[in-house]
Amino acid sequence: MTHTFFLDDQEIPFREGQSVLQAALSAGHYIPHLCWRPQLEPHSSCRLCTVIINGRPFSSCTQPAMKDQKVDCDTPELQALRKAVLQMIFVEGNHYCPSCEESGSCRLQAMAYHLGLQDNRFPQQFPIRERDNSHPDVNMDRDRCIRCETCVRASRDLDGKNVFGIHGRGIKSKLAVNAPSGLLKDTDVSAEDQAVALCPTGCLTVKRVGFKVPIGQRIYDKESISAMALKEFQAEEAAHG
Ligand code: SF4
Ligand code: SF4
Ligand code: FES
Repeated sequence: MTHTFFLDDQEIPFREGQSVLQAALSAGHYIPHLCWRPQLEPHSSCRLCTVIINGRPFSSCTQPAMKDQKVDCDTPELQALRKAVLQMIFVEGNHYCPSCEESGSCRLQAMAYHLGLQDNRFPQQFPIRERDNSHPDVNMDRDRCIRCETCVRASRDLDGKNVFGIHGRGIKSKLAVNAPSGLLKDTDVSAEDQAVALCPTGCLTVKRVGFKVPIGQRIYDKESISAMALKEFQAEEAAHG
């Protein structure tokens, strides 16, 4: 028997065990999200997927869908909250999009367009973070890291390698690699790893391919982040159910 809940007053069917976000995407309704990926266990750190259920905020990527639940998602208050969360993510790193090889294919940048970000709002924090270009095939530019732990989960659960981790807490936390030298060249990461492919920003990139795709043909030149997310989710569902 199929149960349903209500997302912004629209009836959404769900399967037992689906989160609010999964059920929404399954039904073709986009809820903004950054740290959640269909291939990975949820991490619930970015807070972009926040919805209101019974007057209280919840991360829709971890909140189970429940029968007859009333979920608010597309409200001016929640859009303002998502914008503020994203503005905070931007000022906590060092993002120079025009000179970034991920520009046009970056989920963070695409989310900024989706939410209509036009300024930083908060003071820029200019953290000092080391870049690691030691690996022959993979760049690591920590300035662009949003500490979403996608690479941590993907390396562990999809690549079976456990290359990445986050050290420290809060603004001082930083991406670390699993090697005594602390350098990417001394890990077994490879350019084909899902950890690299799924990084939502230009922090982990493959060397010698940057800027190869012309402007106009990059991922988010052609599709909005909402359309891409729905396609990715449907592809993952078709592959794994
Ligand atoms: S990682 Fe994304 S948001 Fe950051 S500089 Fe590169 S394109 Fe811009
Ligand atoms: S390297 Fe990429 S995937 Fe890993 S935590 Fe940073 S932004 Fe997220
Ligand atoms: S997508 Fe749910 S908290 Fe990041």
